[in-house]
Amino acid sequence: MTNIQGTLNIGLIGSGFMGKCHANAFRSYAGLFNSPVTINLHTIADINSEMAKKSAKDLGFENATSNWKTLVDHPEIDLVSITAPNALHEEIALRAIANGKIVYCEKPLSTTSASARIMMQAAEAANITTMVGFNFLRNPLIEVCKQMIEAGELGEITSFNGRHAENYMLDPNQPHSFRTAVEGGGAMADIDSHIISMARYLLGNITSVCAHSITVHKYRPTSLGSNELKPVLVDDVAHALLQFESGVVGSIDVNWLATGRTMDLSFEITGTKGAIAFSQERMNELRVWEAGKSAGYSGFKKLETGPDHKPYGSFCPAAGHHLGFNDLKIIEVSQIIDSLNNGTACHTDFREGYKVQCTIDAILKAATSRQWRDVEDL
Ligand SMILES: NC(=O)c1ccc[n+]([C@@H]2O[C@H](COP(=O)([O-])OP(=O)(O)OC[C@H]3O[C@@H](n4cnc5c(N)ncnc54)[C@H](O)[C@@H]3O)[C@@H](O)[C@H]2O)c1
Repeated sequence: MTNIQGTLNIGLIGSGFMGKCHANAFRSYAGLFNSPVTINLHTIADINSEMAKKSAKDLGFENATSNWKTLVDHPEIDLVSITAPNALHEEIALRAIANGKIVYCEKPLSTTSASARIMMQAAEAANITTMVGFNFLRNPLIEVCKQMIEAGELGEITSFNGRHAENYMLDPNQPHSFRTAVEGGGAMADIDSHIISMARYLLGNITSVCAHSITVHKYRPTSLGSNELKPVLVDDVAHALLQFESGVVGSIDVNWLATGRTMDLSFEITGTKGAIAFSQERMNELRVWEAGKSAGYSGFKKLETGPDHKPYGSFCPAAGHHLGFNDLKIIEVSQIIDSLNNGTACHTDFREGYKVQCTIDAILKAATSRQWRDVEDL
């Protein structure tokens, strides 16, 4: 694993939604956590050179470039953050790995499991520290869920029901983008990776799947406001049944046309002695049901985040003041720095990103063939 001391120079590729989120996380981390390194925002790259320059100024980077290769080849840069479209992840990561950089790549790791495997193998052969941006796992309440499951507080697990529902593609006039590209696009590729990483974190390997998917909006404009329509060849809505290695069975549904839903990354896990329920829309609350309550007193109780749930206390000393989406990214950055400091692998490294991708591939194949499919190469 990469060892780092002194200053950590950051290179960030892509200055859109996630680019801003990563930049904010690197900037905020040092002030909130007891950082063993000094973070320096070295260079930002965006294919749009005006945007690169503006983002450098707005987000606090020393340099801007429209050529990501210049950034990845720069000898001073230690860590490359990839927040560019999915189809670019492999090429950027492989070049960064070849140059010995730490690589922090947004989800999904790549567009197919074959591509993700190449990235994983390259990183492992070069002993490079990697992290994939599964930020929703950084919520301290998810750790509470994991501890409750492992301690047997829910008894024998009887079911996992997961969901990732948003509405950002509901409008049929929303144009094509990398999210609707045939290679690695669709609701499944875009948001399924989050709920699969959650399911895997809490309950382990998923070994086989069965699935069904549909495309509701069959045409979308080629660009915003254009009258030229192009067919949509990826899914909008998908449902899958899951078989876990542990014997647990479950289901997930993904939907980026989900009327009324903005960020329902949610799950309910039932066991013989209890149940837990969570939604990212109320990310500071975990609902817990425990068996054994007397008649009339049985029901879900609400746990709320507070300083007892590490690292909440790094943000705020008082309970009930709540963490937000961007805070999860700051926690993710703190975990990368911890891994570098301790010489350990990040929890969602490229190997885990690859395994998530294998699960997505199996779901896509199951939906196309209308058959149960094994998740290969776990
Ligand atoms: N972890 C999360 O919660 C989360 C949320 C949203 C997106 N994502 C992921 O983040 C990545 C980016 O998504 P986004 O929503 O920020 O997209 P976006 O469209 O907002 O931003 C992408 C940026 O990349 C730039 N870009 C495109 N081609 C480039 C190139 N060749 N060189 C340099 N820059 C280039 C674009 O100009 C744009 O600024 C995707 O992989 C996506 O799946 C993760």
